[in-house]
Amino acid sequence: MEDLMQKIVSLAKRRGFIFPNSEIYGGFGSSYDFGPLGAEMKNNIKNAWRREMLQSQDNIVGLDSAIIMNPKIWQASGHLSAGFSDELVECKKCHHRFRKDFLERDKCPECGGELTDSKKFNLMMKTFVGSLEDEAAMTFLRAETCQGIYVNFDNIVNSMRLKLPFGVAQIGKSFRNEITPKDFIYRTREFEQMEMQWFCEPKSADEYFEYWKEQRMKWYLNLGVKKDNLRFREVAKEELAHYAKRAADIEYKFPFGWKEIEGIHNRGDWDLSNHSKCSGKELKYEGYYPYIIETSGGADRGFLAFLIDAYEEVKGGRTETTEAVKEVEVMLKLHRSLAPVKVAILPLLKNKPELVKKAKEVYELLKPHFICQYDEAGSIGRRYRRQDETGTLFCLTVDFDSLENNDLTIRDRDSMKQERVKIENLVDILKEKLEN
Ligand code: GAP
Repeated sequence: MEDLMQKIVSLAKRRGFIFPNSEIYGGFGSSYDFGPLGAEMKNNIKNAWRREMLQSQDNIVGLDSAIIMNPKIWQASGHLSAGFSDELVECKKCHHRFRKDFLERDKCPECGGELTDSKKFNLMMKTFVGSLEDEAAMTFLRAETCQGIYVNFDNIVNSMRLKLPFGVAQIGKSFRNEITPKDFIYRTREFEQMEMQWFCEPKSADEYFEYWKEQRMKWYLNLGVKKDNLRFREVAKEELAHYAKRAADIEYKFPFGWKEIEGIHNRGDWDLSNHSKCSGKELKYEGYYPYIIETSGGADRGFLAFLIDAYEEVKGGRTETTEAVKEVEVMLKLHRSLAPVKVAILPLLKNKPELVKKAKEVYELLKPHFICQYDEAGSIGRRYRRQDETGTLFCLTVDFDSLENNDLTIRDRDSMKQERVKIENLVDILKEKLEN
């Protein structure tokens, strides 16, 4: 299974999904950049989440709050206290630090040296605002996006005239000084969260907790993740985060084990009551503090799960080609709404100017409607394989008949069926295929 991760990491780099960050300077501690196809796919994931929250569900509004906020917010939220820290031990010999809960034995995994007793390390990332690097100007990068929602509770209720129950959804970067970032983009120090806070009456919190658990699981299933690779895990009382009354994780079966990709939390009135106390501004709704049911997913963890789940190897090749292909062909069976490129336009031969001209006309026609790629390099079979490897949904081939009949063939990634269609109908046909 480790082998599969190596293949994923290598494909991600080779085909422009994910690059190691600061690579030309030797990298930068488990930090990654999303390449051209990765950026496209990540936006597709975020758009699918926004469509779900803001268009499919009822009574949810959006927000885009700041990453850097008044540090008092983090005092009130409990993030500066012991609850938001990792227990670390240090090797007395090589001075590497490790998370105590990740260690399998009580010797240093790097050099076998003796370890110190554990100490708590807070995960908030410090930063300085203004020109003076002193305590007064010190604050933090946000560790979760939801705090921006809580401190705007009153503004949102009043400006949008909302009635309970309602939700506020936000996507954005969060930062945690994770001591042991690992497993590619699974655990990093800078990551993106997709969080929705559902404000409701305390008596209906249990019911909404169950509702949102089911809704969030359905979202992953509807985007094509295999059922057998997803499960719920009820978080034990002693494991609960400092704010949570109850929590359930949605876990994905990664090659490195079952791991959380999203949490559903009943945060009770922890956030609104603490912010009321600490700010002096009463954040009640009709005389009481609403309870909060939170759905908190990681865009990066979701990305990794979607990518791994879509990865398939076809032995002996699947593409019709004149070359004797015996090798394994890779395809990404990404859901149509997540695939970074929807359509590839391929002239049959690149040394025939009339074919190239026609194919470029088709590219110009489709470009305003779909994310397209024009590709003329290599045999047609090789080009199909290259497109399959990045999950492109449709390959359009322009051949000599196209010049006579103003038509072309559409090859479907999954069925590999080829169909001949008129170019004047192409936009409508592709739109229909993408919507179905
Ligand atoms: N507001 C609640 C909250 O932040 P969390 O369980 O700490 O809860 C929620 O985080 C989600 O954010 C996780 O399920 C995961 O998808 C993502 N996440 C948290 N820490 C992460 C990290 N270091 N790297 C990547 N994603 C992370």
